[in-house]
Amino acid sequence: MVISMYVSDSVSINEFGHLTLGGSDTVVLAKKYGTPLMVFDRDAIVANCRAFTESVSENYGDNGRVLYAGKAFSCKEMCRICRDEGMGLDVVSGGELYTAIQADFPMDRVCFHGNNKTQQEISMALEAGVGRIVVDNLEELVQLNKKAAAMGRKQGILLRIKPGIDAHTHDFIRTGQIDSKFGFALETGEAEQAARAALSYGNIELFGIHCHIGSQIFDVDPFVHAARVMLGFMAKIKLDTGCEMRELNLGGGFGIKYTEADKPENFRVYMNRVAAELKNAAAEYGIKMPFIMIEPGRSIVGAEALTLYTVGSVKHIPDVRTYVSVDGGMGDNPRYILYQAKYEVVCANKADQPRTEIVTVAGKCCESGDLIQEHTPIQKVEAGDILAVLSTGAYNYSMASNYNRIPRPEVIMVSAGEEKTIIKRETYENIVANDI
Ligand code: LLP
Repeated sequence: MVISMYVSDSVSINEFGHLTLGGSDTVVLAKKYGTPLMVFDRDAIVANCRAFTESVSENYGDNGRVLYAGKAFSCKEMCRICRDEGMGLDVVSGGELYTAIQADFPMDRVCFHGNNKTQQEISMALEAGVGRIVVDNLEELVQLNKKAAAMGRKQGILLRIKPGIDAHTHDFIRTGQIDSKFGFALETGEAEQAARAALSYGNIELFGIHCHIGSQIFDVDPFVHAARVMLGFMAKIKLDTGCEMRELNLGGGFGIKYTEADKPENFRVYMNRVAAELKNAAAEYGIKMPFIMIEPGRSIVGAEALTLYTVGSVKHIPDVRTYVSVDGGMGDNPRYILYQAKYEVVCANKADQPRTEIVTVAGKCCESGDLIQEHTPIQKVEAGDILAVLSTGAYNYSMASNYNRIPRPEVIMVSAGEEKTIIKRETYENIVANDI
């Protein structure tokens, strides 16, 4: 039975009244692997990768590529999935790059981002032979040229551009407007200055430009607008310098459904509208259609995982609220404390019962703000129940911490009723491993 009150298509209820993900009984998984436990639906992730890849080929033929934004959830298994699906990869740190190297990810399909890449990261990227470095600022351009020269290399780059577009999303995850730490602004002439500088350096090859206007965006218009602005800039550079850049990376940001209140467009609507706009704009500006890249992160993994916890206590505070405390919290999911992010919460072992209670789900950290959700509907729960928080695939594990020296959870992937561990549960030995 697929239940519409829960948001993800991969989530169902079986004959025992237990919540399932990708056909696997989450209560059985919680017993077998312990909690907190993150469970990803591999088949759903692969289906998302394929849907994006197909949409890119429908719209651009061979002249485009999907890069998975690893920051959403990076681990070797995710890199292997994207590698096997023929995708590219967006990395934003030495750690994400190292993960990709360890997974034998083809380096020519990697874009290395970041507003403050360290000297060591720049060297690492050059040594690994990453396909494109997305240069954020003039200082980086100088350093990169110097290092590439020292290695006798010519490094392919894109310039990170702020297209000056205000996407309507949480303030912390908006990146396209002029007041942003990322990239070169168009309005100030800084972007053109960067392009001219890049063209003047002997060990850099300017392939194109990149933008990313924000994350969890529902509105299609800002994407369409950004695409036109970016192509307009490419046309201007051609006019001013004679250089016709060949690549345009439009970033990620497609919104997903966390709760029923979220109404994202099907991503194909974004893809088709952006492609149509690009084709019109290219014809108008008299430039060739560039190679198009997109970088979805959340929309590949976000809705395809859930986190399982064990309820430790239920505290009713008359006329105030009921706290349900679980064995994880802000350490494995800091998104409520950071963005007041909404999630659906379900009692996995009573999933067929109605959600009649309104509770606050609290973590186990020594911090009052350590909440996973406030005033959320849930079944009547008691100590020992298994609680599932849905759609935790993106920016949960990747933003996890060891606050209070709590080990990070185990992460497993299920596929056609089989499961396997993809990230082991951290141990107390891991916690003290670097202590001297
Ligand atoms: N490309 C670039 C350059 C990015 O900065 C990002 C996300 C993406 C692609 C992928 O965006 P997505 O498709 O996942 O929206 N921690 C926040 C989200 C931060 C997004 C950072 N950049 C959260 O938990 O909502």
